[in-house]
Amino acid sequence: MCPVKLALIGAGDRGFAYGKYALDHPDEVSFVAVADPIAVRRGQFAALHDIPSTHRFVSWEDLLTRPPLADAVIVATPDHLHVAPAVAALRRGYHVLLEKPMATNLPDCVTLVHEAESSGHMLQVCHVLRYSDFFNQVYQIIQAGRLGEIVTLEHRENVVYWHMAHSFVRGNWRRADESSPMILAKCCHDLDLMYWMMGEPFVRLSSVGSLLHFRPEAAPRPDLPERCTDGCPIEAECPFSAPAIYLERRPWRSLAVGVTDVPYYDFSVERAWPASVLAHGDLRPEVLRRALEEGPYGRCVYHCDNDVVDHQVVAMQSASGRSATLIMHGHSHLEGRTLRIDGTRGTLEARFTHMLNTIEVHDHLTGRTEVVHPLGAHVVHGGGDAGLMAAFVRAVREGTQLPLTDARSALESHLLAFAAEQARLEGIVIDLQAYRAAAMARELS
Ligand SMILES: NC(=O)c1ccc[n+]([C@@H]2O[C@H](COP(=O)([O-])OP(=O)(O)OC[C@H]3O[C@@H](n4cnc5c(N)ncnc54)[C@H](O)[C@@H]3O)[C@@H](O)[C@H]2O)c1
Repeated sequence: MCPVKLALIGAGDRGFAYGKYALDHPDEVSFVAVADPIAVRRGQFAALHDIPSTHRFVSWEDLLTRPPLADAVIVATPDHLHVAPAVAALRRGYHVLLEKPMATNLPDCVTLVHEAESSGHMLQVCHVLRYSDFFNQVYQIIQAGRLGEIVTLEHRENVVYWHMAHSFVRGNWRRADESSPMILAKCCHDLDLMYWMMGEPFVRLSSVGSLLHFRPEAAPRPDLPERCTDGCPIEAECPFSAPAIYLERRPWRSLAVGVTDVPYYDFSVERAWPASVLAHGDLRPEVLRRALEEGPYGRCVYHCDNDVVDHQVVAMQSASGRSATLIMHGHSHLEGRTLRIDGTRGTLEARFTHMLNTIEVHDHLTGRTEVVHPLGAHVVHGGGDAGLMAAFVRAVREGTQLPLTDARSALESHLLAFAAEQARLEGIVIDLQAYRAAAMARELS
């Protein structure tokens, strides 16, 4: 069997995560080209995958103006740089695995669906959680009818406080105009899962939420310096202290003290994230400290230029009258999703965290509870990254479709996210059927 050939566009954190699958499964897939403007990242990725210098490119344009070098490309560039390379790759004859969000506005998402469907090539969106054992087991329990008819579905995306500070206050997803609203950036996965689990479209949606904490007015004292490294008077007692998060790894140390029976998943084991983001993977203490003194990640969380929310609630009604709520927030003690589904025959309660994955199914008739421990605790995305790569590579090799995460099925979650942001900002209830029809009509007109 000849390995499927892939080209990577965007050798950042996600690019390396997909690269790992190829290193673990060299018989199935290999990376033969890479494009990234950052020489260190491009070089590191190329070295790991033995990519010759002729197949290393500074930008996606350089790669995609050549005749195809591979069977498929992975587009893992920043959010605002998804559409152009994805469209160019489809037009060049590549299958495409595109990071989420598909695009940062709804018309571009719809355009991508049409581009994919008219190209005859696959456009898959990295909704990796659909490939995790955890969400597959939840889905199978629902499909098997063990809960009866779903009546309410509550889903929470609990973003741990230091991840919130890293990505949505100091980092790349802090401003809606530079990336996208947090409900899209963080929760297109969750809206996708909710739509999948509910098994029918949503028809009405409302939403509330705000940026409550990470702004100057919420600072514990008025005299805080612009940077944690500028002699901050509350550095020792601030949970968001940048030196504590990136240099001392204080959040992980305190967790290790509190938890003795379950090993806490330590990101540093696999990829040193989030410190790896500060200086392109250079983890030397002096380099990290300089990055904190000069770069965005050393800024006081009360003095950044962030504008995305730190909490948002979305309420939705499905076509047959069932209710669903999504709570997204950035103030959790642990990273992870929690959910509860109440049906006419049973209740499901589940936790999907980096410490422990559990699903409890309570049967109304017997009163019995079954506890399931899906695979994938202690693995990023519960094993979804590897699951998606395996499915994508197989579909490319066999020339089959992969409807689970194709562009059209991914569109729905993006549409819900944009609707939620509009509902939050305007304080309105959105008729999703009309919203959907308008989105499709705009693109076709
Ligand atoms: N599926 C998931 O669960 C998941 C999780 C996290 C992030 N993401 C998404 O994945 C994408 C990448 O995120 P990341 O954390 O890896 O970001 P990153 O910043 O670490 O990596 C992006 C890379 O793209 C490169 N790039 C920029 N311009 C380019 C160009 N013109 N040509 C080629 N490469 C270019 C950058 O130099 C960088 O190395 C984002 O859209 C993000 O929202 C998805």
